[in-house]
Amino acid sequence: MKMRSALLVVLAATLAAGTLYAQVAESPLPRVVNKDGRFALFVDDAPYLMLGAQVHNSSSWPAMLPKVWPAMEYLNVNTVEMPIYWEQFEPRPGQYDYTTIDTLLTEARQHHVHLVLLWFGTWKNGSQHYMPEWMKLDTARYPHMVDRNGEAVDSPSPHAAASLEADKSAFTAFMRHLKEADPQRTVLIIQVENEAGSWGSVRDFSPAAQKLFEAPVPPEVLSAMHVKAASPSPNWPEAFGPNADEYFHAFSVAKYIGQVAAAGKAAYPLPMYANAALRDPFNPGRAGQPGASGNYESGGPTDNVLPIWKAAAPALDVLAPDDYQNDDATYLKVLELYHRDDNALFVPETGGPDNARFFFSALGLQTIGFSPFGLDYTHRTADRSLNQVDASRPQEEFLTPWAMNYRLVGPMQREIARLNFEGKLQAVAEEQGKVARTLPFGSWDAVVSFGAARNNRGAGNPKPAGRALVAQLKDNQFLVTGYFCRVDFRPTATEQQRKSQLIVEGTQQNPSALIDGKWQHRQFLLVEEGIYENGAFKPIRIWNGDETDWGLDFGGDPVVLRVSVATY
Ligand code: DGJ
Repeated sequence: MKMRSALLVVLAATLAAGTLYAQVAESPLPRVVNKDGRFALFVDDAPYLMLGAQVHNSSSWPAMLPKVWPAMEYLNVNTVEMPIYWEQFEPRPGQYDYTTIDTLLTEARQHHVHLVLLWFGTWKNGSQHYMPEWMKLDTARYPHMVDRNGEAVDSPSPHAAASLEADKSAFTAFMRHLKEADPQRTVLIIQVENEAGSWGSVRDFSPAAQKLFEAPVPPEVLSAMHVKAASPSPNWPEAFGPNADEYFHAFSVAKYIGQVAAAGKAAYPLPMYANAALRDPFNPGRAGQPGASGNYESGGPTDNVLPIWKAAAPALDVLAPDDYQNDDATYLKVLELYHRDDNALFVPETGGPDNARFFFSALGLQTIGFSPFGLDYTHRTADRSLNQVDASRPQEEFLTPWAMNYRLVGPMQREIARLNFEGKLQAVAEEQGKVARTLPFGSWDAVVSFGAARNNRGAGNPKPAGRALVAQLKDNQFLVTGYFCRVDFRPTATEQQRKSQLIVEGTQQNPSALIDGKWQHRQFLLVEEGIYENGAFKPIRIWNGDETDWGLDFGGDPVVLRVSVATY
């Protein structure tokens, strides 16, 4: 009898909710938190670091998943980024197919990872290739953009009211379903569209767009861009001169996506972001002009229009760079440009195995997540340029540079995220030609050097691969980890005192500073190697003797140290 009434209760709950999903307890909503100028993604009400990987564009189909999960396991990710395809989700107007989403949720839970879902809606890399067929075949109702010569280009118009309404409806249905199907918050954050903007034209030159271009610029854009124009209500050319076309397009695309995001958030308020196909911050070229190298996609959240995007799309929590830059300075400049007082750094796509070390640079800028692209086993040879895949080599090989990062940080990602949110963490990666870095921590400097051998401070690794992370646990205690680097500590001196130093690091003497006429030498009180388990550091051995004679040396194995220092 008891059993029967319990069953009836479940049945009643199920009928009331309309599905079986409602029986799982709800976890707190993930959210992006900003405190004292620092950001964190809160998951289960605590800072969380997304150790991510994105699958190939066509790898979210259920039949592909057996080739996805083994790669994710090898990488030791805690979060997987996977597309949701509008064409699959809404095969006929208003008919939604939730099967793929449900499969992704189920399998992600079985593999103990979170998801970032990417809404491949109106835009994918500047085109409308993931729109449902019934839209693609009705270009009068769902128009392409038109270039200066009146030619349609391979990019959707951000002024197409019917496309906007269709995208809002589909995205809302998707979010409503997620709310119901995912009370455990497997999905952390949603990417709205993918690399929106256009390659074929700097903006839409359709009559509807032209009318808006000649109308007054919305006041929020003027104030975001600090425009002081001669007239009180300037139009786009008056306000922005030669940049007017590009800025107008950025506003139009951002406004459209902001409305899609807001509609979805009204159904289910998960954090949302948009990703950018970047421009080179040093040599930007021209927007929306294919051909010359260095030119870039127009209208997306490139570094020059971030304030316009913030003003036009407040429903987006984060604007995020897809960082595929090839040289160190450019890669790092991009990270800096997206780490702003009004924007958390999140790297939703990156590539190139030599860039794996820059995960540490992103950590040094309090990134909430990092996610190399195309890391599954569906597609081993297609992205040679990105991952330098050679089909004759073991399939794990192209994953290894990324896997090393996550093996090291994975067991302590919560601690890393918390320490970063509290402003206690610094991290760096080796850059070509820079052999040492000093990280200031109050009364101690952490001195990181690359390529150091016994009795010398190093001249850099043969190929830059070094990475280091130092976090202050107490005044004189630090968490220290990294690869291919040496870390040591030196008492801090003033600039003047620093200049008078005879010995600072890496010679026969320990790092020292001449402070107020008296030498202060570093001594290691205790160097514990250990592992984090359930938030607590568990020492496994004490380092001394050879292990600390020259500083703390990190090679290619994952090693985490808790270091207490003092002076003598
Ligand atoms: C950036 C895009 O956002 C991804 O979807 C993918 O196309 C990659 N480029 C690499 O091809």
